[in-house]
Parts: sequence; structure tokens; C-alpha cells
Amino acid sequence: MPAVPAVTLAPTGALADTLARPLRDLRISVTDRCNFRCVYCMPRAVFDKDYPFLPHAALLSFEEIERLARLFVAHGVEKIRLTGGEPLLRKNLEHLIERLATLTTPDGRPLDLTLTTNGSLLERKARALKDAGLTRVTVSLDALDDALFQRMNDAGYSASNVLDGIAAAQAAGLAPLKVNMVVKRGTNDGEILPMARHFKGSGVVLRFIEYMDVGTSNGWNMAEVLPSAEVVARVAEHFPLVPLEAHSAAETAQRWGYADGGGEIGVISSVTRAFCGACTRARLSTEGKLYLCLFASAGHDLRAMLRSGATDADIASAIAHIWQARDDRYSQLRGSAAAQELGAHRVEMSYIGG
Ligand code: GTP
Ligand code: 5AD
Ligand code: SF4
Ligand code: SF4
Repeated sequence: MPAVPAVTLAPTGALADTLARPLRDLRISVTDRCNFRCVYCMPRAVFDKDYPFLPHAALLSFEEIERLARLFVAHGVEKIRLTGGEPLLRKNLEHLIERLATLTTPDGRPLDLTLTTNGSLLERKARALKDAGLTRVTVSLDALDDALFQRMNDAGYSASNVLDGIAAAQAAGLAPLKVNMVVKRGTNDGEILPMARHFKGSGVVLRFIEYMDVGTSNGWNMAEVLPSAEVVARVAEHFPLVPLEAHSAAETAQRWGYADGGGEIGVISSVTRAFCGACTRARLSTEGKLYLCLFASAGHDLRAMLRSGATDADIASAIAHIWQARDDRYSQLRGSAAAQELGAHRVEMSYIGG
């Protein structure tokens, strides 16, 4: 458990780590379980019936999540993303969203409160999520071709099921809606154009993600990474694209607009063009560990502090000390000896949250 710091650091909203990166985004994993078994994330051979998923008592309660979120917001967090596993599997998630939706930044602005989902339960839940105060959603979808999509999720879910979820989210006003597609060369790169064609002009922002070496169970290799430059070239061949300005320096995606005004796409190039330099993201695992990088091997146990009776001031101060010592930049170091060592025991994405 992080020590209660001898020097108290009260939140000022202006924390910076060793690389001068502020703390602006908090990604909270609300369950380590998922109803999909995507080959690049939770391969069925590893995440089988014997996999030691967390017991319920290990999970942070909604009260605990809200308490921590409030402290992170005091420290400068402006965007909260709920992730998993599949966050919509967490019972009564709307109740957590209602609590988080009441938080505001120190100068009184509402948070950007969003969620990453595989979309399978979205048709049923979109309205309740919106009513609870969720701002927007991001839906993962790797293919329109049903046989291929089913091979990738390895759990029998149809693309049409996810598309129905996307339509329901759009109808509920969860906007802007983003769709994330992980591209694996040789598996679903043939879906790049069909996906672009499908979502062009729909108001949905489609983003192509380079397949990453997160966790240690997906058997990642560079040969299966299709560089984003090639994705952009393939789309641009059919639909001319123009580069768009980033919304913020910390943005994961590089944005491209359709020259004919049909909306935009994005590419997330963690492998070929690392974006650690402006990484303002902290991650809270399902059991309350604070991770400073998607590729970290260990987290800081905030749940232990919560459950040992620490005060808000103690916990806020511990968070400040942890962030100030942060030097993580795995994607920039990828391939180097340092990264090999740092990443030898990296946690699974389903546990830490995408
Ligand atoms: P927006 O606020 O909608 O732009 O979301 P985002 O791009 O910050 O988050 P999202 O969950 O949509 O991220 C999309 C994908 O980018 C994730 O699934 C990861 O694959 C990747 N990603 C997100 N954050 C990081 C990060 O900090 N490091 C790395 N290496 N990849 C990340
Ligand atoms: N590489 C890139 N993105 C990944 N995701 C999960 N595993 C990987 C990986 N190995 C993404 C999913 C989803 C989010 C939860 O994380 O596509 O958008
Ligand atoms: Fe589940 Fe998302 Fe991982 Fe697929 S990528 S197994 S939907 S958490
Ligand atoms: Fe941030 Fe780590 Fe991703 Fe780099 S690899 S962008 S430091 S989470």
C-alpha cells in the first residue's frame, strides 16, 4: 500500500510527472470480465473456465470509485472513461454513472464522462446510460463481415448485434460516437475499406488502432501490425483525406477528414508513432490499483488505503506523490532493452482497462 506521505500535497489541479505531463484522464476498469474472447485481448486458451477472475469483494464498490474519482478530479482530471473487461457487465453501472456525473472540475465544468464497450449490451442499455448522465460512448468493432467478426470475438456475437447497439446509442444522443477497430494484418485488414465506407457520413468517428503488445497472452508479433500510414493510404485511395488538427496534445488519435465532407476517421499508432510524450492518462484497475501506463507491471494499491481508514487528504497526497514520480513511456521505448525489462510482466488489458 502506498505510504501516507510525510509531506502532504493538497490538490492544486496542476500536478506534473517527471516528464512534465499533467494528470487529466482517468480510466476506470469496473470489471475484469468480458462476454467476448477477442483473440488480441482475452484469448480463450488463457481466459478459460479456470482463469482466476477477481471475486466480487475484491472490486472497488461504487462508493469507493466515486471517492477516488473525486480526488482525481481535484488533482486535475477532466475526463473519466469507464472500461473493463466489458463495463456493461457490471451490475447497476448506471448508478455509478449517476454519481460520477455530479462531479465537476475545480472551475465548475462538467466532466467528459465516457465508456468503452463491445456494444453487445448497448441496444438494451443506451437510454439508461444517457439518462444517468453519460456523455458519449466508444464502441469496439473489428469487422462487418459476420463470419470474420465471430472469429475475432470468439464468442458467437454478430456484427449486427453491435451495429444495433451503435444505432441505439446514436438515437439516445450519446455523441460523438466513436468506433474503434483493432487492425491485425492478415486477419481483418480487408475490412478497413468496408468499415470506412459503412461509417462515412454517419456521424460516427471510426478509428483504426494498431495491434499492440499489451499483456503477455495474445502472442503479439510485429508482422501482424499494419502501420497506420498504410491504413490511411488504403482509405485515401478510395476516399480522399485531409489531415485535421488535433483536439488536444494528449489525443491518442491522429485525425483525418474526408475531403468531400463525409466526416472523419482517426488512427491510433501506439506502435509506429508512440504518443507517450503527452500522455496524461492514469488507470484504476478493477481492484483499485493505480497504474501509470498501459504497459506497467505493477500498480499502487489505493484500495488498501481506502479500506485502512486513510483520510481524503492522505489519499490525495499519495496520488500526488505517485504521479510526480511517474516516468513511464513504454511505447517510446518499445524494442529497447529497457522496455524488455519494464514490460516483462505487463498486466492484461482486460484487468487494467483499455
Ligand atoms: P477519446 O477521448 O474518445 O479520444 O478516447 P481515447 O482514444 O483516449 O480512448 P479509447 O479508449 O477510445 O482508446 C482507443 C485505443 O487507444 C485503446 O483501446 C488503446 O488501444 C489505445 N490507447 C488508449 N490510451 C492509450 C495509452 O495511453 N497508451 C497506448 N499505448 N494506447 C492507448
Ligand atoms: N491492441 C490494440 N488494441 C487493443 N484493445 C484490446 N486489446 C488490444 C490490443 N492488443 C482495444 C480494443 C478496445 C479496447 C477495449 O481496447 O479494441 O477498443
Ligand atoms: Fe472484451 Fe474488449 Fe477485450 Fe474484446 S477487447 S475481449 S470486447 S475487453
Ligand atoms: Fe501513456 Fe504508457 Fe501508452 Fe505511453 S505507453 S501513451 S506512457 S499509457
